[in-house]
Amino acid sequence: MQELIISPSVLSLDYSDMNGQIEELRKSKAKWLHFDVMDGHFVPNLTFGPDLLKGFKKASELFMDVHLMVSDPATVSKWFIDAGADLITFHLETCENIEACLALCKEIRSRQVKVGVSVKPNTSINELLPHLDHMDLVLIMSVEPGFGGQAFMADMLDKVKVLRHEIEQRQLTTRIQIDGGINEETGKQAIAAGCDTLVAGSYVFRRDIVKAIDSLL
Ligand code: DX5
Ligand code: ZN
Repeated sequence: MQELIISPSVLSLDYSDMNGQIEELRKSKAKWLHFDVMDGHFVPNLTFGPDLLKGFKKASELFMDVHLMVSDPATVSKWFIDAGADLITFHLETCENIEACLALCKEIRSRQVKVGVSVKPNTSINELLPHLDHMDLVLIMSVEPGFGGQAFMADMLDKVKVLRHEIEQRQLTTRIQIDGGINEETGKQAIAAGCDTLVAGSYVFRRDIVKAIDSLL
């Protein structure tokens, strides 16, 4: 398995103290920063556009991990690539078919940006399995996308185990990311099942940031 990476979600960041929180992140062992982009259509919530990422990019050296929860990822991914995203993850549910999903993977990679594909809790990963070499990451949602602070759905770990088996068998470098309800306890379960990239929002930003991230590693 690859190095374990923690990707704190800025969805839960305290925006009344942005500089302070970025400074804490700098002191922490977090290597990535997770941006939950929501369009009010694919999910019933609305967040931010690419300018926010540009601001973080000026203030932080972290790897910019963009999670698009939008109905039109082909358009929105371009905006975030131009803003400086290092990884774009979009949802399989937004693609007409697997061919369209793979075409978007290819397009994002052609811009020298890494690509991930995400599945909601009720979506199977079976369709993705033969094509993992087209993806740098698969994101397993362990809550219904849309809001931070929800409870972890432990049965999503079955998908993680299947993915880990496939990745090891084929000696691929595709990362397995999990997102939603991650804390010290559920993070350990996710790692044991085969995740190598943990997103955490409320668990990190509602307490001492450095210590919370340490507890996930
Ligand atoms: C949910 C988002 C998550 C969210 C996680 O739609 O994709 O990234 O911020 O928040 P927590 O860690 O609080 O469940
Ligand atoms: Zn996310």
